[in-house]
Amino acid sequence: MRPPRANAYRDAWAGELGPGRVGETVTVAGWVHRRRDHGGLIFIDLRDRSGIVQLVFNPDGAPEAHAEAERLRSEFVVSATGTVLEREAGNVNPNLATGEIEIGVAELRRLATSDTPPFPVDDDSPVDELLRLSHRVLDLRRPAMQHALAVRHTILRAMREHLNARDFLDLETPILTRSTPEGARDFLVPARMNPGAWYALPQSPQLFKQLLMMGGFERYYQIARCFRDEDLRGFRQPEFTQLDLEMSFVEEDDVIEITETTMAHVFEAAGFSVAPPPWPRLPFAEAMLRYGSDKPDLRFGLEIAELGEAFAGTGFQVFSRVLDGGGVVRGLNAGARELPRRELDELTEVVRRFGAGGLVWAFVQEDGSWRSPAAKALSDAERAGVAERLGARPGDLLLLVADTAAVAAQALGEVRLELSRRFGLVAEGAHQITWVVDFPMFEPTDGGSGWTALHHPFTAPLGDFSDPGALQSRGYDLVLDGTEIGGGSIRIATPEVQQQVFDVLGIGPEEARARFGFLLDALRYGAPPHGGIALGLDRIVAILAGRDSIRDVIAFPKTASGADPLTGAPAPVDAEQLAELGVKSLAPPRSG
Ligand code: AMO
Repeated sequence: MRPPRANAYRDAWAGELGPGRVGETVTVAGWVHRRRDHGGLIFIDLRDRSGIVQLVFNPDGAPEAHAEAERLRSEFVVSATGTVLEREAGNVNPNLATGEIEIGVAELRRLATSDTPPFPVDDDSPVDELLRLSHRVLDLRRPAMQHALAVRHTILRAMREHLNARDFLDLETPILTRSTPEGARDFLVPARMNPGAWYALPQSPQLFKQLLMMGGFERYYQIARCFRDEDLRGFRQPEFTQLDLEMSFVEEDDVIEITETTMAHVFEAAGFSVAPPPWPRLPFAEAMLRYGSDKPDLRFGLEIAELGEAFAGTGFQVFSRVLDGGGVVRGLNAGARELPRRELDELTEVVRRFGAGGLVWAFVQEDGSWRSPAAKALSDAERAGVAERLGARPGDLLLLVADTAAVAAQALGEVRLELSRRFGLVAEGAHQITWVVDFPMFEPTDGGSGWTALHHPFTAPLGDFSDPGALQSRGYDLVLDGTEIGGGSIRIATPEVQQQVFDVLGIGPEEARARFGFLLDALRYGAPPHGGIALGLDRIVAILAGRDSIRDVIAFPKTASGADPLTGAPAPVDAEQLAELGVKSLAPPRSG
């Protein structure tokens, strides 16, 4: 850090003092990190954002400061002036950046006291997350949060640097707006001045960034806050941050190139080691087949293979029934592992959770035969066919699922992840990034009666509309270590194609006009070809800072139930406030 501007509180950063300053008088300010009384001498570790320095109080040299130091407790705020002293060789602390020196304090000012913190602030020992979030200010002082938010800043700065240098304009878009369909529920805000009408908080700036392209800005970016009312499993928050960008007169390769150079710059700035771009582009169908996921974790093998051919005409009914019904048999080689029955049952539970009927397991014996519940039902030729496709050797554990392609893919994809967790298959420090491309444009709705857009309805389709299920899109996702860190597409640039997509989604011309008239109109006045991407900042920071939860890289996050234990949001409001908004609550009265 650059030296601070000298004032009454400080003229130096605690963590930046070293042997070069010995003999100088300095003033530092910060929090009491730790305090040790050594009969006579008192030692205080003083902490500011830059680090820690040891203050030493000598009752003979500075009796007043010493007396004041006796009253200091953890997290008191102080300013201290004294002389930088070289520590004797035996007292040097190699674990502290400033461990070769200490400050002999002549004058101490106590600026604030602190109640006893509910958990230790001076280390990262595990603390219940609800307690941490309820006392977030204290939690933010701990080393892990200080580090995570500094990494977040480094990443944001690198993103801005790169895009500014490439002529992108940083433009804002509204927060109070109309619904932008990204597949989640909207957060709604009642409009007092228009009773009965509601704003929606943006699920992303998608439509506005497209309008900015039609408005002639060519290259836009924004560090954009997005709001989605969805289930908060895993790497999700109801409000999160994207690096959102959009470009005009571009094709897939252009957006991919700017994303790759931006992210490479980010990785370098954060000291994160990934292969340099260009990054592989994995077609969606291949990702689903080989890894059972559209966000494959490529840090370990355990690839899934299609085994249907090996079982053509099989007498094993479990497989023949599925194959005859148009389903698939797929499997993976878990390698040489001796799993007890209990763990095999647990893996079976995993596939059941994802809709598969069951899991066929088999241990390959020395003579090529199988120890497996299915052993008797399968022929030598079938086993040999599987062994060849899965590269099986004696001792290997093979895991097979027969089901529809979608269920088999997901079930085995989850087994793959479970095995990697159980057996620690990801090497320390290994990172793998890939694009996933060639997505289907639509997927059947849950009920199967209609279609939903796999990306969003503004993604350009590839092909003709006679069979929506066969249409591909011009979308692309970026996947880092099995997490989707970004997604984007080339967009639809004509009102006709836009309406065709709406039609497939069951949004007729009237509804389209009511909801998206502004977009359809804008598309009528010379829309340039355009496309873009949004990168999930919180997820990127979490991975680069080595955190399991995105809550650990957001200063003030929400819990899994969408609550903020710090402020108590969301909270009930007065009846008058609701009346003023023309809103009546149907929720049952809250207890407490
Ligand atoms: P998409 O919906 O794929 O695309 O979002 C882009 C990226 O944002 C991150 N993300 C989230 N992060 C935390 N919490 C959430 N609830 C959450 N939801 C998404 C993911 C994801 O890859 N408008 C399009 C982009 C475009 O087409 O340009 C969009 O928002 O990392």
